[in-house]
Amino acid sequence: MARGSGARRPRSTLAVRGQPPAAVGSEGLVRRDLRHLAGYAPIEPPAALSQETGLEPARIIKLDGNENPYGPSPRARAALASLDCAHLYPDPEQRELRRALADYLGVGAEHIVAGAGSDDLLDLLARLFLAPGDRIINCVPTFGMYSFLAEVQGARVTEVRRTPDHEVDVEAVARALDRRTKLIFLAAPNNPTGNLLPRKHLERLLELPIVVVVDEAYVEFSGTAGFAALVPGHSNLVVLRTFSKWAGLAGLRVGYGVFPPPIAARLMLIKQPYNVNVAAQAAALASLEDVAHLLRNVQRLVKERERLYGKLSRLPFLEALPSRANFILCRLLRGEAASLHQRLRQRGIFVRYFDTPLLRQHLRISAGRPEDTDAVIATLKEFGREL
Ligand SMILES: Cc1ncc(COP(=O)(O)O)c(C=O)c1O
Repeated sequence: MARGSGARRPRSTLAVRGQPPAAVGSEGLVRRDLRHLAGYAPIEPPAALSQETGLEPARIIKLDGNENPYGPSPRARAALASLDCAHLYPDPEQRELRRALADYLGVGAEHIVAGAGSDDLLDLLARLFLAPGDRIINCVPTFGMYSFLAEVQGARVTEVRRTPDHEVDVEAVARALDRRTKLIFLAAPNNPTGNLLPRKHLERLLELPIVVVVDEAYVEFSGTAGFAALVPGHSNLVVLRTFSKWAGLAGLRVGYGVFPPPIAARLMLIKQPYNVNVAAQAAALASLEDVAHLLRNVQRLVKERERLYGKLSRLPFLEALPSRANFILCRLLRGEAASLHQRLRQRGIFVRYFDTPLLRQHLRISAGRPEDTDAVIATLKEFGREL
C-alpha cells in the first residue's frame, strides 16, 4: 500500500557499514512485524547534499524540507548564545514553556504538552492509543509520518483517498471505521497538497468515535487561526503545532500540542521525561517574545509562495496547486518528475520527490528566498524547452 507522501528510505547506512543482518545474532529476536518495515524517508542535511553534488554548502538551494530560510528570531539567537544551563536536565514538567504557550494560545496550561518537534507528539499519540492490530485512518496523499508511526506500533492503516480536489472525503472516512479504529491524523494545511480542512468537515469528523488529530504544522502560513481554540470544548480533538516552520527552529526540535486535559495528563506520564532539551526550550520561549518579527518572515514566505505559484502556473508542462502552506505541489503533465528531480539535484537545487503511486508525477517545492525561486524556475524552464 502507498504510504501517503512518504517515500521509502534507503537501507540504513549503519546496517550497510556494520555486519549484514543475517550475521547479527539478535536479528531473530527483533519483532517479526518490524523486520521488513521500510522506514520513513527523511530529507538529508546540507553537508550530505554538498558531498553528493560537490558544491559548497552555501551553494545548495534547499527547498525540500519546508524549512524557514530566515532562521530563528534575534531573541531566540540571543537566548541560545547566552544559554548557561546545558549541563542540567530540562524541566520534565515543561512548566515555563507550557505556561507561555497557554498564554500565547489563550487556553489553560493543563491542555498543553511540548515535544521534540511535533513528530514527538505524533509518536506519543500513536504510543498512547495504538496497540498491535488497532487502526488509524490516513487520508492520502498526506504526511508520511502518520502511517510510519502507526506501523511501528504494529497498528494497521486504513487509507481513504482524498477527493480529486484534495479534500478529506468525510463520509468515506465514516464508512471506513471499524471497532479497532482509534485515530485519524489530518494535516491542515495538508502536506503535500497545501489545502485547508474546512470547519464543517472537522465538525462532522468530531462526531465519530475516534480521536481527531489536526496537525497544524503550517497554520501560521495559512491566514487562518486554526482550530486550537476548539480543543477545550471537545474530548476527542487534538491540535498539534511546531516551532520548526514559522519560528525557524526545525533543527532544535520543538513542537507542542493542545489536548483535552485527560489526554495531556496521560501523555505527560508516558513521554520521555526530558523530551524538550534546554536549548529548544530557551529558543521557543524567546520566539514567543519575538512573534512580530517571526510573523514578518512568515509574510515574506507567503509572498514568495505566491510569486512561485505565479511563475509555476505559467509553465505549460506542469500544474501547480494553490497552497496555504509554505510549499507548492506540482504535477508534471509532460516529462518524468523523477528525472526533473535529478536535474534539479545536479544543479544543487533540492525539492521533494515522493516515489509513491499517488505522487510519482509530482514535486513539492518549498517557498524560499526570492533568489531560490529564480534558480528553480530557470532550471524548470530549461527542462521544459527540452520536452
Ligand atoms: C504536516 C507535518 N506535520 C509535522 C511535521 C513535523 O514537524 P516537526 O519538525 O515539528 O517535527 C511536518 C514536517 O515537515 C509536517 O509536514
